[in-house]
Amino acid sequence: MGIKIKLAAMVISVAVISGCSSGSLPTEKMNHDMMEMGNSAMRNMMKGHMSHDTVVMLNDSTGENELKIPSILESETENGIVYTVRAQKGKTEIFDGTETETYGYNGSFLGPMLRFEEGDKVKIRTINELDEETTFHWHGLEVSADADGGPHDSLKPGEEKVIEFEVTQEAATLWFHPHPLGKTSEQVYKGLAGLIYIEDDNSKSLELPSVYGENDIPLVFQDRIFDDKKQLNYRSAMNEDGTIGNTLLINGTLNPKLTVNKEKVRLRLLNGSNARNFTFKLNTGDSFVQIATDGGFLNEPVTLQEVTLTPAERAEIVIDFSRINTTDEVALINEDGSVLLPFRVSNQSGAISRIPGVMNDFSLTDEEMDLPVTKKVELFGMMHMVTINGKKFNPERIDFTQEQGVTEVWEIYNKPDMMGGMTHPFHIHGAQYKIISRNEEAPPENERGWKDSISVSPDETVKIAIQFKHKGVYMFHCHILEHEDNGMMGQIRVE
Ligand code: C2O
Ligand code: CU
Ligand code: CU
Repeated sequence: MGIKIKLAAMVISVAVISGCSSGSLPTEKMNHDMMEMGNSAMRNMMKGHMSHDTVVMLNDSTGENELKIPSILESETENGIVYTVRAQKGKTEIFDGTETETYGYNGSFLGPMLRFEEGDKVKIRTINELDEETTFHWHGLEVSADADGGPHDSLKPGEEKVIEFEVTQEAATLWFHPHPLGKTSEQVYKGLAGLIYIEDDNSKSLELPSVYGENDIPLVFQDRIFDDKKQLNYRSAMNEDGTIGNTLLINGTLNPKLTVNKEKVRLRLLNGSNARNFTFKLNTGDSFVQIATDGGFLNEPVTLQEVTLTPAERAEIVIDFSRINTTDEVALINEDGSVLLPFRVSNQSGAISRIPGVMNDFSLTDEEMDLPVTKKVELFGMMHMVTINGKKFNPERIDFTQEQGVTEVWEIYNKPDMMGGMTHPFHIHGAQYKIISRNEEAPPENERGWKDSISVSPDETVKIAIQFKHKGVYMFHCHILEHEDNGMMGQIRVE
């Protein structure tokens, strides 16, 4: 299985480097051509890719820049709940002395952090100041479909929309990004992505590290390719199977480092990449604990040596710098050894925080375990030939219906192709769900918590239990953004 995943990753990266000759064909034509192609032709084309053996690795972070921490978006009223979020264009000095054209929310690049509390009644005024259509999607938030910002909710340039919702879910790290039909990948690539923190009574009582920017650090990982003018040229970087770059930005910071005290530090990891998977670990071999999944705390901290996140997945981890030998360099590295985030550990002892043994009461009930499978999702293909249940996205077609407040079991299967296939990160809007099993086995301990995005490896079957709190039409899709834009998406109407 591991090997297959690597092969798939190789195909992607090779296509990036060689500028995959078919990549320049117009969308419709290419789609058609590939459908016409027989299996053997397809196989030969893939072999062509495979004969290259270059893999786009990330450049090591030199650590010359202190990590930027997203600002917290303050509310505009006393009791806390009117926000304005503008999607805008701008120029950002990512490289010293050079301006890169970027997109951002309430700024030139990326976005601020929105902090909600469970029970908040939130009003957000969303404004599109771009020259193109966009939407405002709140990834992981359990809101009614008309506030969800899917592709049906497109705002034209200059348009605005006010959305209102109540925060009814527990503490978690979520995010927001655009979702316009066929243009999500490009807009995210240019910089549209922001963070949402939800706090609740439980999170405030746990005594976890929670000083924002000091021992509670958001880390938005995104890989990019900059052209020789240091611009983000999406059209030339784009790969149909997911755009992968050699340059890592964390919170938009090039060559980041993070200065920490000798204390427990909580890192909220978000894989905000279009397509790259990350496997995070420490270069020292030390372990850390994972405390939260996409949508909430784990019941107990899970000790890990490494954690893998596919696009859109989150994990909160705690590293105890008071226990790591810091005479040597400490860094967060990727599976392949590339240095993602070097730490500079100061001599300051920092706050005393603890990692409680019990953090949540998440459970999968016997009833849920026994429910029959009532929805089947088959993920298939690569490049332009990506489908869900053999179909491409059609905004006019409702693929599934489900009753509000009723739990159903979905079975998600990643059907391999002759190349073995590739991992697809599968996301459903409007709900947090529970993983029942992976290939009939209980999920790993660090996935026994609320999820809204899951990795599905080739030939893997994942069963989930899901319930929607609100009505309306929601998307489900592969979160490799180019796959989503290429139609690997469906719709469910909750009624
Ligand atoms: Cu993160 Cu449909 O999106
Ligand atoms: Cu989403
Ligand atoms: Cu996919």
